[in-house]
Amino acid sequence: MLSYRHSYHAGNHADVLKHIVEIAVLDYLIEKDKPLTYIDTHSAQGLYALQGDHASKNKEHLEGVAKIDHSQHELLSRYATFSDANWYAGSVNIAQQILREDDKLRCFELHPNDYSMLCRNTQGDKRVKCFDSDGFKGLIAQVPPQTKRAAVMIDPSYELDSDYNQVINTLKGALQRFAVGVYMVWYPLLSKIEVQRFQKQLEKLSAAGQPVKFLHAQLQVRKPSPGMYGSGMFIINPPWKLKNQLQEILPQLVKQLGEPGKGASFSLSTSKGL
Ligand SMILES: C[S@@+](CC[C@H](N)C(=O)[O-])C[C@H]1O[C@@H](n2cnc3c(N)ncnc32)[C@H](O)[C@@H]1O
Repeated sequence: MLSYRHSYHAGNHADVLKHIVEIAVLDYLIEKDKPLTYIDTHSAQGLYALQGDHASKNKEHLEGVAKIDHSQHELLSRYATFSDANWYAGSVNIAQQILREDDKLRCFELHPNDYSMLCRNTQGDKRVKCFDSDGFKGLIAQVPPQTKRAAVMIDPSYELDSDYNQVINTLKGALQRFAVGVYMVWYPLLSKIEVQRFQKQLEKLSAAGQPVKFLHAQLQVRKPSPGMYGSGMFIINPPWKLKNQLQEILPQLVKQLGEPGKGASFSLSTSKGL
């Protein structure tokens, strides 16, 4: 039985990095006048009540979204438009706000309570289909999409160490079926051997016999220490604009979200030639 509930963590520093990347990617992809499918393998509730029992317990958003100074970059001010003091937009809600009438959303969530919240939060939106089944298998079944264009968010809780291998194996399977998709993978920075190995495996992925094109961003809110000290986003087939956007945003995120005097930092690497 899964115990992780994202509603306790909504709007924290990891969400800020993840959701800024998602917004930049989707904003770029909808510039083209062709339908798009958004696949969210680990959706949670889609939208989170910041004043609800869960989010107000640890108040992680106060160390995340609430600290963002939106005036420092146009992407930060764009990020500000998705949430307010009462509601934090998760990955699904962000996609709902950005996507157009002919686009599709395919959302997977295994936790029964989160699944029913997800259904409630997306009710009436004909573009959305929610599944209470495994998002790893779900992704393989969804690609290649009918629309021929897709953005995929893979955002497990990594509650199980097997999630790291599952992400790699699922990406291999998905890339084999659909090499041109834009894949966004979130992961926590933890002092664990599995995380070090995982990062290397991500950077070695290939599609159709060629190394994948990727951008790999990390935000450390403090130097490596016990607990989650930051997070990473690995983006396969990133929009060409994203590298510049991240080069500008990441130093801002270090300044705004880093724990003072604790060695906060960022890194940004790319595949060859990107
Ligand atoms: C980190 S949360 C997702 C947060 C969400 N993407 C957002 O940004 O708003 C991970 C979610 O994955 C769910 N989950 C865990 N294993 C899963 C699986 N194999 N398939 C689908 N959902 C799963 C958990 O119940 C949890 O709600």
